[in-house]
Amino acid sequence: MPDPFRHYEGVPLIDLPADEGFVPSLLYYSAAISATKVTPTGGRYALRVNPSSGNLHPTEFHFATRGLPGWEDGCYHYRPSSHMVEMRGRGDFLKGVSDAPLVLLLSSIVWREAWKYRDRAYRYINHDIGHAWQALVYAAGSLGCATWARGLFADADVGERFRLAPDEWPMLLAEIGAPAEPRLAAQGEWFGGTPNTLSPEVAAYPLIEEMHATTLLGETPVVPSAPALDDFPCDNFGALARRRRSALDFKPEGRRMALEQLSGLLNLASRPLAKDWEGRFITLYVFAHRVDGLAPGLYRYWDSALHLMKAGDQRVIAAALSLHQDLAGNSAVTLSMIADLRRAFDRYGDRAYRFVHHEAGAIGQRLYLGAESLGFQATGIGAFYDDHVHRWLEIEADAGQVVYHFAIGEAIPDTRLAPEV
Ligand SMILES: Cc1cc2nc3c(=O)[nH]c(=O)nc-3n(C[C@H](O)[C@H](O)[C@H](O)COP(=O)(O)O)c2cc1C
Repeated sequence: MPDPFRHYEGVPLIDLPADEGFVPSLLYYSAAISATKVTPTGGRYALRVNPSSGNLHPTEFHFATRGLPGWEDGCYHYRPSSHMVEMRGRGDFLKGVSDAPLVLLLSSIVWREAWKYRDRAYRYINHDIGHAWQALVYAAGSLGCATWARGLFADADVGERFRLAPDEWPMLLAEIGAPAEPRLAAQGEWFGGTPNTLSPEVAAYPLIEEMHATTLLGETPVVPSAPALDDFPCDNFGALARRRRSALDFKPEGRRMALEQLSGLLNLASRPLAKDWEGRFITLYVFAHRVDGLAPGLYRYWDSALHLMKAGDQRVIAAALSLHQDLAGNSAVTLSMIADLRRAFDRYGDRAYRFVHHEAGAIGQRLYLGAESLGFQATGIGAFYDDHVHRWLEIEADAGQVVYHFAIGEAIPDTRLAPEV
């Protein structure tokens, strides 16, 4: 297992207060460690505000600032292990990229996932980016700032500007504040830092390398940006974000969901995403197990309404389709996210493969937070039998592809969670 924490060693370190000031708070409510679990043998491991498949956390948070109060203009990398920031360079690294005072770069270290999930890891790193993106959007929103996500950029240029270690791929830029037209090249003083070795032995996954290579862009297209402030209806967002946890399983006879609650969650999932690629590509299918006011069955969510596709108890099939994971049947509802990959591909070529998974992750993150705010818990489900899902949902070949499952219900308490200190 590779080291779950990337450090750039040998650079100036900045210790952050937990949640005083904009940048510390932003990271504390989107990327920081927020809980510890203890294994039966006494081992401890960290969980973070943003969820991640297998808790493997391939996503790294870098950022660059320009004229941000309290921060020297520079290029930084976040160290969640100690809630610190590594200053990798001093100067204006945003020239030609953005006029925003703060831009985050989310990168992925695919090996962190691939050692366990093999080629399927390519999906998970893209989901995880979607989750991290919305974690940032809502944390920034709770601090009064809009976020504009950019997935259309020249990979090599961005990777070089932030001088990412070769095993880190730039995946998403998140401009916090007002975005504007691109400007000219960057200059500054560079400390860089030496990336730590994550594992002494790294296995190659040529299929992932090949897939990723087809999604690269050589040039950054010019797209108009229109930031929107995404507000999350919640009084104490910080506490909510930090208490979010994935359920390991749900109580089979747990709390039922009200139809209005389900409608609210589906509406939250469908609200606009502030991003530079156009369109939405995902349709939600709902396995309704235990919803007051809605007969058990399989529904398609379309035009803000639920359309019945199959009447009757779906608990066994929902679990079976989700790689026989009980939680997909014990939930109040389980969702299947179906992406129109064809339409996405026609618009953005292979780059679209990232976007549909970012969108799925983004929807998932909103549902995690939305569920938590209603007193439910949730779990993203990346493991499912793709072809069987297509058959059960009656999705014709080429008409859509399942990209993510998601379950919401009343969690069985997790005894491995260490009490907060
Ligand atoms: C993309 C993605 C896929 C996941 N797939 C599964 C899954 O198939 N089964 C499961 O029990 N949990 C799944 N999870 C939940 C993770 O295991 C969980 O996020 C991780 O252990 C960290 O725990 P936390 O969410 O409480 O921070 C998934 C999470 C994500 C983001």
